[in-house]
Amino acid sequence: MSSPVLQVRELSVLAHNGPTPLTLVDRLSFDLAQGEILGLVGESGSGKTLACRALMRLLPSNALSIEGTAVHLAGQNLLALGEADMRAMRGRQIGMVFQNPSSHLDPLMRIGEQIGEGIRQHQQCTRREARAQAIEVLRQVGIPDPQQRVDHFAHEFSGGMRQRAMIAVALGCEPRVLIADEPTTALDVTVQAQILRLLLELRDRRGLSLILITHDLGVVAQTCDSIAVMYAGRLCEHGRKRDLLARPRHPYSAGLVACQPAGGAGLEPLRTIGGQPPLLSALPTGCRFNPRCEYLGPGCREVMPDLQAVEHGQRVACHYPLALGGQP
Ligand SMILES: Nc1ncnc2c1ncn2[C@@H]1O[C@H](COP(=O)(O)OP(=O)(O)O)[C@@H](O)[C@H]1O
Ligand SMILES: [Mg+2]
Repeated sequence: MSSPVLQVRELSVLAHNGPTPLTLVDRLSFDLAQGEILGLVGESGSGKTLACRALMRLLPSNALSIEGTAVHLAGQNLLALGEADMRAMRGRQIGMVFQNPSSHLDPLMRIGEQIGEGIRQHQQCTRREARAQAIEVLRQVGIPDPQQRVDHFAHEFSGGMRQRAMIAVALGCEPRVLIADEPTTALDVTVQAQILRLLLELRDRRGLSLILITHDLGVVAQTCDSIAVMYAGRLCEHGRKRDLLARPRHPYSAGLVACQPAGGAGLEPLRTIGGQPPLLSALPTGCRFNPRCEYLGPGCREVMPDLQAVEHGQRVACHYPLALGGQP
């Protein structure tokens, strides 16, 4: 793959609600290549959404802050930009679609106007030209009758069509990087598959780079090139999809993979990972996964493991990465 479009270095999100700040996302680092689809997975509350909102510098609350070395995109360090420059990057370079499009589409604005707004922010063109382009974008995301649909409001769309419309609004800005936060979770299985196919097509046609947040490894297996696994605010493993699914090296990723129904012929009972993720206000010392880990060794309770490179560019934050057969 080509050189990275996005380089994230030591990105953290802190919450300042109590006497001492809580680290909700802890020093995330990864690269995203042009045309790459990265699946960001992890249990609910592991920090996936906040990490991606931090990339866009769009945190949901003033009690949260971002720390980090760099988020490099299009020759800029987003963390060093003023708000006006950052606004220009948002949409045009990096866009985001959410699980619940209804709360992110403007109910009082026609879909075409919302797409056109993005187009006109970045291009000198008339309303009429923007409308024509909006129709084209609606066609590209598979909305039937785009000439009519362009004048409709979000509530006139079905759930799947609303998600397509939201993707269209993001695409109107022609971003290089699109973050899709659980874009199919609220949809039925058939529509889910259609939206995933759409994302793949957009990657192929536009060379879009994608971060696909999901808790569903099945979605990742179908759609992604690479996988990043988060646990309690930290990246615990990152690598190519085929390597990570075939040979997870972190006990937590191995547990996630083993919990997948696919694999065998359905004869083995589905495994689950015992225990619960820790509260971020009461993190264990050492490795955050240690209370649930079956493979504890010396140091796991005391020393936080850093991400280290293993083979094929795979990275794992574990003192005792599983051997290639899935055993320690
Ligand atoms: N606005 C907020 N203020 C304080 N804590 C938050 C806020 N939003 C999310 N969190 C906490 O940050 C952690 C990560 O949340 P989130 O990124 O939404 O997880 P995920 O997307 O992986 O489910 C959770 O523990 C959550 O409770
Ligand atoms: Mg989330």
